[in-house]
Formats: sequence, structure tokens, C-alpha cells
Amino acid sequence: MKTQVGIIGAGPAGLILAQLLHLQGIDSVILERKSRNNIEGTVKAGILEQTTIDILREMGVGDRMDREGHFHNGNYFQFNGQRRHIDLKKYSGGKQVVVYPQHEVIIDLVNAHYENGKDIIFDVEDVTLHDIDTNQPKIRYRKNGLDEELVCDFIAGCDGYHGPSRLAIPDNIRKEHVHFYQYGWLGILSDSAPAADELIYASHDQGFALLSTRTPILQRHYLQVDPFDDIANWSDDRIWSELTARTKTNDGWQVPDGPINSKGIFQMRSFVCETMQFGRLFIAGDAAHTVPPTGAKGLNLAATDVKVMSRGITEFYQNGSTDLLDRYSEICLRRVWKAERFSYFMTRLLHTNPKFDSFERGVQLAELDYYTSSEAGLSTIAENYVGLPIQWEKAEDLKAVIK
Ligand code: FAD
Ligand code: DHB
Repeated sequence: MKTQVGIIGAGPAGLILAQLLHLQGIDSVILERKSRNNIEGTVKAGILEQTTIDILREMGVGDRMDREGHFHNGNYFQFNGQRRHIDLKKYSGGKQVVVYPQHEVIIDLVNAHYENGKDIIFDVEDVTLHDIDTNQPKIRYRKNGLDEELVCDFIAGCDGYHGPSRLAIPDNIRKEHVHFYQYGWLGILSDSAPAADELIYASHDQGFALLSTRTPILQRHYLQVDPFDDIANWSDDRIWSELTARTKTNDGWQVPDGPINSKGIFQMRSFVCETMQFGRLFIAGDAAHTVPPTGAKGLNLAATDVKVMSRGITEFYQNGSTDLLDRYSEICLRRVWKAERFSYFMTRLLHTNPKFDSFERGVQLAELDYYTSSEAGLSTIAENYVGLPIQWEKAEDLKAVIK
């Protein structure tokens, strides 16, 4: 089988890329390890930033998000029992975020893909990459017990942190930066009323808590826990009592509770792979970088990476130029490092470090007070939370702009 772009992985990165390429008349084939039901049913991200909202609308896949998503102009930071509002729209020049779950984005993108008359090859096994430093890279895989080969012009590695694409970049030119946190998140879905009109990020001596939402009757909340804790140690009563203690305000407000219908613990890590390209292989999204969830950046970074990739590939087919493709990694990483910085900053600002002495906790509370009350603090949180623009300029030209 032959195609122009072989895409490994039908997550947000792979599916958005396929749609962007289709709109430019470029053919692609997506190979996915899991089933359609699995990718459309897995609960992950909740927040889409303005840049991602714009990409989905431009692609013609934003209608259901516009109808059913909950658009927020701000969020709340809470500490010392006080709730402070961050007016994201005001401090970012009019930008917003939307609560629209990742699996709904996946459903919309898969539908759009089928409406384009395209197929996704689900349930593939043993995916390997070959000849990526030639003009005819190949992807080999097994499907229904048969060995198959896809010959391509380009390979897009959109296969998440554990996929094979990143590892196909030779060790001697691939530099990996990794940082682990001593924090885990326990996430729940509960049949309960929304906590507030916008998300609440709460810092408390007992640990961080995040109150998010899905629908008027289904809520998504998170608690900071030990990353190695066992979910069996967390009864529903214990979860609600921690969420209540960490989020109640001095005026007596308490989070509305209800039956919990799913719960799980995950670890967090910051990770950046430099470079994001080798020969005809380009990697995107979680395959190339991961962030702790505190800044709500993971899916959003995946979307902007593939926007850059699709422009580069389009330019190649339209006029033979490799200028953008040659700078793919540089353009993406400039933005990725800033999102890594913001996610790291938000994680350290809001989580309770059990090793902190009272001085360090005092500094953390002062930082929270500063960022939520100074115009400069509010602006820096807002412009990063709604998503920084892609900088397409060459690094040298950018320096000239700053001068
Ligand atoms: P993935 O979604 O991981 O997709 C990769 C795909 O590749 C998968 O379908 C996988 O099955 C497939 N694959 C893997 N290996 C192979 C193989 N060998 N062959 C074929 N296919 C393969 N991000 C935000 O922006 N906002 C948020 O609010 C947010 N909240 C989050 C909350 C939680 C609890 C979690 C866990 C994550 C959150 N994220 C958030 C992060 C976000 O979910 C990820 O960054 C996003 O899924 C990355 O998309 P991706 O397409 O790069 O990778
Ligand atoms: C959600 C997840 C996040 O990581 C975040 O920062 C905000 C919201 C969510 O799943 O709703």
C-alpha cells in the first residue's frame, strides 16, 4: 500500500493532522493500535485553549464544540480559603478556553475522517519504521495476523509517549529531557452539580485540588495524591472528605457531592525530546513531549505541532520547498518549551510539597497572592493559559524583532 503521509496513532495529533492534510488535497493513512471504541471512550483532557478552538473551527470540525462545549472567560485560584478570579479574557486580549472533553474531539475527528471517505486502520500490531532517512520511508505492521507494509513520502509519529516513532530517531541525535514530580493526581467523574461557573484550582496545606466539569450533571475533579498510592485506599467517602476540606471557602461554601462513577490515579512527568524530526520522520504531541496536567496543555500542544507539520508538508507538495519542514522541530520546540515552563510553574505554584518547611509554604502562598492580584501576574497566567501563538519566524529574525 502507498500513501503520501503515513500517520501512526489516532489520538488528537494524528486525527487533526489527517484532516488538515485532507483539506490541502494531501493523502494520508492512519494506523492505530487500539479499537475505535477504545479511542472514543477513554476519558482524558478537558480544556481546549483558544489556539486549539481556532484550529478545530478552521478545519470545519468545531460545530459540536461550539454547540455543546462550555466556554469560559476565566478561572479561579483558591488558597487560604479565599477564591480569586482570573479574568482570562480580559488579560489575554479577548481569548477564551472551552471545556470540551478529548474523547468528544476524537469522536468529531473520526466522523469527519469517515465523511472524507477515508478509513482508519484500527487494531494494528507490531508497528515498525524503516528507511526514514530516505525519500521512501516505510511502516511495517501486522493486521489480522498478516504482515503489511505502507510506503510513504513522510511518516508522522503521533503515537503518544509509549509509541515506537520517537525511538526510531537515532540515539546519537536524540536528546531527551525528563523531570519527575512527587505528585500524582486522583481523577474522578461524579454525578453531581457543577462546583462553579468556571474551573477552581485550589492550593491547600493538605494538597492541591481541581474542580472541573463535563456536563451540568457530570463533574470531573482531581486531588493531589502520592503517585504510588493505590486507588483501593480511596473510598468515595474519603475522596469527598478530602475534596471538601481542600476546596471549602471561609464563607462556608462546600463542593456539591454525589455518586462517583469512575476513579483512577496517574503519575505526572515533564518530558521533551530534542529533536522532533529525522529524515522523513516528524514526531508530534505526546510522542515528542509530555507535561504535567496542571496547565492543561498536552492536547493543545499536540494540535499546534501538527498545524506546523501540515503547513510544512503542504509547502513541500505545492512548491517543492523544504524550508518549513527543515525548521519543524525548531518552530515547535520554541513553543513547547514555553508550555513546559508554564506547566512546571503551575504545578509548583499549586501543589503542596510534603518536604516544604513553613518558610517555603509561606513563599508559595505569597506567590499565589502576587500572581492573582497584580496586573503583571494576572497577564502572565492568562496569556499562557489560553495558549501562546506559534512563532513561525526564523530564530535569527526573532532576535531582530526583540532588539
Ligand atoms: P495520544 O492521545 O496518546 O494518542 C496516541 C495514539 O497512538 C493512541 O491512540 C495510541 O493508541 C496510538 N499508538 C500508540 N502506540 C502505537 C503503535 N505502536 N501503533 C499504532 N498506534 C499507536 N491536555 C490538555 O490539553 N488539556 C487538558 O485539560 C488535559 N487534561 C488531561 C487530563 C488527564 C487526566 C490526562 C491523562 C491528560 C490530560 N491532557 C490534557 C493531556 C492530553 O490528554 C494528551 O496530551 C493528548 O492525548 C496527546 O495527544 P496525542 O495525539 O499526542 O497522543
Ligand atoms: C481538566 C484537566 C486539566 O489538566 C486541567 O488543568 C483542567 C481541566 C479536565 O479534565 O477537565
